[in-house]
Amino acid sequence: MSKIVITGGNRLEGDVLISGAKNAVLPIMAATILNAGLNIIHHCPRLSDVEGSLNILEALGCTVKREDDTVIVDSTTISKHNVPDHLMREMRSSVIFLGSIIARCKQAVISTPGGCEIGPRPIDLHTNALKKMGVHIEESHGFIHCSADRLKGAEIHLHSPSVGATENIMLTAVYAEGTTVIYNAAKEPEVMDLQLYLQEMGVRIRGAGTSTIVIEGGCPLHEVEHTVIADRIEAFTYLAAAALTRGSVRVQNVVPEHLYSAIAIMRECGLNIKIGKTDVSVTRHGILRPIKKIYTLPYPGFPTDMQAPMTAMLSIARGTSVVSETIFKNRFRYTDELTRMGADIHVEGQAAVIRGVHKLTGAPVYSPDLRGGAALVIAALAAEGETEVNDISHIERGYEEIVEKFAQLGATIQKVETKDENKQQT
Ligand code: EPZ
Repeated sequence: MSKIVITGGNRLEGDVLISGAKNAVLPIMAATILNAGLNIIHHCPRLSDVEGSLNILEALGCTVKREDDTVIVDSTTISKHNVPDHLMREMRSSVIFLGSIIARCKQAVISTPGGCEIGPRPIDLHTNALKKMGVHIEESHGFIHCSADRLKGAEIHLHSPSVGATENIMLTAVYAEGTTVIYNAAKEPEVMDLQLYLQEMGVRIRGAGTSTIVIEGGCPLHEVEHTVIADRIEAFTYLAAAALTRGSVRVQNVVPEHLYSAIAIMRECGLNIKIGKTDVSVTRHGILRPIKKIYTLPYPGFPTDMQAPMTAMLSIARGTSVVSETIFKNRFRYTDELTRMGADIHVEGQAAVIRGVHKLTGAPVYSPDLRGGAALVIAALAAEGETEVNDISHIERGYEEIVEKFAQLGATIQKVETKDENKQQT
């Protein structure tokens, strides 16, 4: 076990280079199964979720190697179509492999993804779509058995714009006979990056970024070399930390447009924002104004993955803000820990009422999940005194070198190995 120990109060200042997007890399890793050849992926972050997906690829028969921030996957040989249970459990989003395994092997066995720290993660949108494409699916004893004599293109209407379901359908459609059309598709930038990856592989696919995506199945595929887009969620986390510490931080190597919804809110708070071609800077001079109501929404709305860092930032605004979580059922667990640091937050149903306080104070806290953990870290950077953030394995799933990057910006922060007895008594 390890923890992050922070002494708050330093103004964060300087530039931070943003890593490749976890949520773009994971579906791209699944896509490497499709071309039975070489996949060279640059700007691939070192994250436990990425390592987990590489373990799955190796378990299926791929050869995988990493050279700095480039990962090379050779999917010439796929010797298995079942993902070992322990690897499925290592990361919540492993269901994203289902479509490409079925496409390549015409069968797949995965364990039903467990619940997760932010609420139930059903996969009905995934399985209903695959059934429409000719996949026979049986669930028993905690496993999902899938098989398909032939995959056929279909018109799929998603009742909600699920990111994972959109991506699984895109991957399956590559090997389907005929055309697949996805209506009410997710429009996230990570879906657009997956489309670009597939186009670079030889797939005729268009429409990602809009509600309708069209995929022509059966195209000849070839090797791919791709550079992953920057992680907009990581970028926002550093900008929110600048706001919390009255600092001035520039996030580099980003796509500013992917941050527009968060930038609009930060401007309403009174923050000074500068937007370059591939960078965004935030400087805080005076007080932070509260925001009457923020809803998390599918892209291009304000992202649910930015909800926790945003709430941490608003915890010291001069007034009351309300953040409503419309995507996941249980994504406010971190607010109990922020309250231990002196925040005044009350969760009522799917909304958090945040009464700004004059200051936060350091305390021992525990990360309940990935983005909640990141919110605790940035709150600690602004808190008076020392904070210990425990259970940081959640944070390391999605933030590459978070301690090194904040230290570079002037934070007093370190990672400390601990013994198990410090683990929170449940
Ligand atoms: C992706 O998860 C991201 N993960 C999540 O990021 C992100 O929060 C989410 O999209 C929303 O933007 C990856 O890309 C690896 P969804 P995903 O399917 O695909 C319900 C992070 O912190 N739903 O769009 O699982 C679901 O329960 C993670 O980086 C169904 O009901 O999200 C949720 O309420 C967390 N049935 C909503 O839709 C289904 O079959 C959105 O889920 C699928 C989803």
